[in-house]
Amino acid sequence: MAHKILVEGPLPPEILEMLGDEYQVHIWTELPEAEWADAVGLLTYGHPQVDGPFMDRVPGIKLISNFGVGVDHIDLEAAKQRGLPVGNTPSLLDGATADMTFGLILATARLMVVGDRYARSPEFIHFDPSYMLGTEVHSTVMGIIGLGNIGYQVAKRGRGFDMEIFYHNRRPNLKAEADLAVRRVAMDELLEQSDFVVLNMPLTDETEKMIGARQFGLMQESAILINTARGGVVDHDALVTALQSGQIAAAGLDVTEPEPLPRNHPLLSMDNVIIMPHLGSATRQTRLAMAQRTVDNLKAVIEGREMITRVV
Ligand code: DGY
Repeated sequence: MAHKILVEGPLPPEILEMLGDEYQVHIWTELPEAEWADAVGLLTYGHPQVDGPFMDRVPGIKLISNFGVGVDHIDLEAAKQRGLPVGNTPSLLDGATADMTFGLILATARLMVVGDRYARSPEFIHFDPSYMLGTEVHSTVMGIIGLGNIGYQVAKRGRGFDMEIFYHNRRPNLKAEADLAVRRVAMDELLEQSDFVVLNMPLTDETEKMIGARQFGLMQESAILINTARGGVVDHDALVTALQSGQIAAAGLDVTEPEPLPRNHPLLSMDNVIIMPHLGSATRQTRLAMAQRTVDNLKAVIEGREMITRVV
């Protein structure tokens, strides 16, 4: 008999194909709860909240397999207490997310979105060398908060732009220091010195709202904040104030808190803010690799093997 898997919403056809006929996928909101009992696993796609009480409502599950590297939407402690392995998809999305980070750096610094809008508008009637002056990206200082696998790839791209690179991490990243000449500094020093402050840390109790009023106060008026981590690591009220008061120059956000922002949120009407709908790892190639890993992690447990990449 096919193994029953619960998901929050529809899965793309590629994942269903990878799962194959031995797996029967059900959307949990559409399945009467009485029929959850024989489900063997949860496949989390699109960050549904999964806490301890929810896990208890699906007593037969042997695992949670998450599509994505960030698992802040899953209560890992609760999974651990219940002996449930949680899988994720690290490493596979580092390059794509670092590319997006750099895209946001270039787009904010060189006014690419407002420039595009102007180029399409009837107001653009002739070239004027004095309009829309952005700021340099090459040969500037980048500060990366959270230098893991994605941060490493961001730093590597930064070296190609002749940037001086600082980082702040709980632990030193000796490989990055050796390969890329990055320098570990205290958080305040990073904020004070960087032209671009790039956030690549996971969202945890320690990092929640780590960038707030005090941190914006330390940044340069010309500084640009880039967030491809999680919206929750930034205090968004403080970010609005920092941008409105000119405490910092601009922000490039792949993620926000909440996500999406309410349609009347002040960030949505600021020209010095670029917002993406959480597209960091959204390339066809990376999504396919993530899908395969999510399925492989799930099948591994059901077939009695170790998950390939397991968080707890
Ligand atoms: C991740 O991998 O955590 C991305 O946010 C996509 O889910």
